[in-house]
Amino acid sequence: HAAGDPVITELQPWMQQLGDGVDVAPYGKPSEYESHVKRRTVEWLTADPVSSINFTPLHELDGIITPNGLCFERHHAGTAHIDPAKHRLMINGLVDTPLVFTMADLLRFPRENHVYFLECAANSGMEWRGAQLNGCQFTHGMIHNVMYTGVKLRHLLEEAGVKTSGKWVMPEGADAAAMTRSIPMEKALDDCLVAWKMNGEALRPEQGYPLRLVVPGWEGNMWVKWLRRIEVGDEPWHHREETSKYTDLLADGTARRFTWEMDAKSVITNPSPQAPILHGKGPTVLTGLAWSGRGTIPRVDVTIDGGKNWHAARMSGPSLDKSMHRFYFEFDWDGGELLLQSRAHDSTGYVQPTKNELRDYRGTNSIYHNNGIQTWYVNKNGEAENVEVS
Ligand code: MTE
Ligand code: CO
Repeated sequence: HAAGDPVITELQPWMQQLGDGVDVAPYGKPSEYESHVKRRTVEWLTADPVSSINFTPLHELDGIITPNGLCFERHHAGTAHIDPAKHRLMINGLVDTPLVFTMADLLRFPRENHVYFLECAANSGMEWRGAQLNGCQFTHGMIHNVMYTGVKLRHLLEEAGVKTSGKWVMPEGADAAAMTRSIPMEKALDDCLVAWKMNGEALRPEQGYPLRLVVPGWEGNMWVKWLRRIEVGDEPWHHREETSKYTDLLADGTARRFTWEMDAKSVITNPSPQAPILHGKGPTVLTGLAWSGRGTIPRVDVTIDGGKNWHAARMSGPSLDKSMHRFYFEFDWDGGELLLQSRAHDSTGYVQPTKNELRDYRGTNSIYHNNGIQTWYVNKNGEAENVEVS
């Protein structure tokens, strides 16, 4: 326009002086202009921050990898700060030779790299009875997706020699919660990893430094952090986290137990309540994430009119087993109201259900394993809100 854009016509401060020298931030941080991009908690959800949760800001991210500093945190007794020189991993129980590994010992086993999502079984749990929290960070942010480096649990179990009676393993954490879960031997010998790196760097303390268990595709609670011991047994232990918790009470009073696999799920991250459309009508980019604990996501459908018309979204980025997938749908917004939904299809043929389909089968007592289709209502100003359509 006539006056000229001052950002172009006027010299900006960063062109009038030298910048920082190379060593001003030896371990780098994001730009100061990105300070709004952070994990957030919902204070009324829990009584105390040491047994609590915060959420990954999914609406601020792109691609499929979650930056380490933004991975949501779920602790039952706070973050342990462990000196790796004083950390050991013990394997005991039904094994020929009980073993204790130092961190240095683990580095002598063959390593593998895998990108996996970790989703807390309680992700979207607050939405069971109806739309509640305004933002995909809060409705879907108990998930992260990083590349792990570690050794297959199978190698460590083989080193100890599992007795033929050994059918289950019980990982235990070195935090004050000493968290434990029962994992069937089949899974332990399949793809579980004992990991010490995420996205190339050491695990963050919040994610279990120096060692965590990776249980691909299965509920986050089983991914024991600050891993100190693995006991081999002949039956499950029925500890707190697999009886009173992480169990789904059905309408008839019976409970679904040992629901380990995470069902296929997706969410539109933009537009969404924390990421309104600010540019008015015209070309608009919709994007989101999809994942399945049973494989890959070959297809995501998107609707902008509450399910009257569905369109195939455009998948972009690597399609990896038990990893998040990124999808896009570009459309011309006419400035009218929108009802946005996404629906994931996984490589087994499973299709993400509606919330009401889930409720028909499982009632409304549940907290865990809500993988129902999410709806965002967008008004004419581009502002979005968490709603449900029947
Ligand atoms: N491991 C230990 N030792 N202590 C914990 O409190 N929380 C579990 C699991 N492993 C927990 C733990 C739960 S419920 C989840 S969802 C994941 O860790 C969260 O992992 P994150 O903090 O890396 O997101
Ligand atoms: Co959890």
